Amino acid sequence: MARRSGLGPRWLEAVATVLLLGLFRNGIGAVVAEDSCGMVPQGRITGGTTAARGQWPWQVSINHHGTHVCGGSLVSNQWVLSAAHCFPSDNKIEEYEVKLGAHQLDYYSTDTQVRGVAQVISHEKYSHEGSMGDIALLRLSSSVTFSRYIRPICLPAANASFPNGLQCIVTGWGHVAPSVSLPNPRPLQQLEVPLISRETCNCLYNINAKPGEPHLIDQDMLCAGYVNGSKDACQGDSGGPLSCPVAGRWYLAGIVSWGDACGAPNRPGVYTLTSVYASWIHYKVAELQPQVVPQMEESQPDGHLCSRYKGFNSAPAQGLVGPILLLPLGLTLGLLRPLHED
Ligand SMILES: *[C@@H]1O[C@H](CO)[C@@H](O)[C@H](O)[C@H]1NC(C)=O
Ligand SMILES: *[C@@H]1O[C@H](CO)[C@@H](O)[C@H](O)[C@H]1NC(C)=O
Repeated sequence: MARRSGLGPRWLEAVATVLLLGLFRNGIGAVVAEDSCGMVPQGRITGGTTAARGQWPWQVSINHHGTHVCGGSLVSNQWVLSAAHCFPSDNKIEEYEVKLGAHQLDYYSTDTQVRGVAQVISHEKYSHEGSMGDIALLRLSSSVTFSRYIRPICLPAANASFPNGLQCIVTGWGHVAPSVSLPNPRPLQQLEVPLISRETCNCLYNINAKPGEPHLIDQDMLCAGYVNGSKDACQGDSGGPLSCPVAGRWYLAGIVSWGDACGAPNRPGVYTLTSVYASWIHYKVAELQPQVVPQMEESQPDGHLCSRYKGFNSAPAQGLVGPILLLPLGLTLGLLRPLHED
């Protein structure tokens, strides 16, 4: 909602919020201030696969030479946050396009706006798949008008902390299984995934780890997903949002970064932890203001998710774990495509 400094009682704000939500419900594209990020008209739908139209209005599709390669999140009317690995240095920015307000990629819709990319700011630390700093800022060739289908998500401030087990949503147009692309008309997919602590995620990734594959979960990474593989679709796309709900708003807790191939147990999706880069974002683009995230309940230890395999202690583990006895589960794990499809 817009800032109304000096406007008095809080209930006025509440009324304004209700009115604003009413506008969305009527499908009228309201032009609202920056601090109304992360709000959508629909409630949260859990366990679905195809998203409702306009449900994730910050989700964008990034095209290279006309082909969808990555997702991204709208964070203001001119900036998108995505993953650095979506922009290899050999590619020219003229070759990219950003589609906003899209739902089915194969159908033209008047709700969709397309922009070129005027600038890509990749993090200096990013070097290769699985390295730190897999984050990039994109400036659109011209600003977009917010609508029911095009809205920004909130950027979490540096001190934000999202508790283990929090149910967040990853969205994207990625493959539905290894080497199986999303079928026509390619509607946006969503998957509910609980957050997993970094320590537990490190423990999981060291189960049957292959040499040469990235398996160290760095300080700037966040994991989310299922250990047992109860979901059977690979959803999401590199660069796309991991949206977490806190007190009625959605925050960009993570950016889809990497993970093992779909179907591998003990390999939750790995995301760039956006809050770590709050000051980098603000330093690079002064107009982007990360938001303070209301304090949530304390994180409960989640070491039990890995303890079955090696007697993992629920106390925070440091560094890599030793050799582990593997107990294959024989279940498929439905998670994210590790890479863009270029
Ligand atoms: C996987 O784990 C989740 C939560 O831990 C549980 O709800 C689900 O039933 C499990 N699925 C299978 C197939 O074991
Ligand atoms: C984060 O910082 C803001 C002030 O910058 C403060 O109001 C808020 O309580 C802090 N949140 C946490 C979780 O420490």
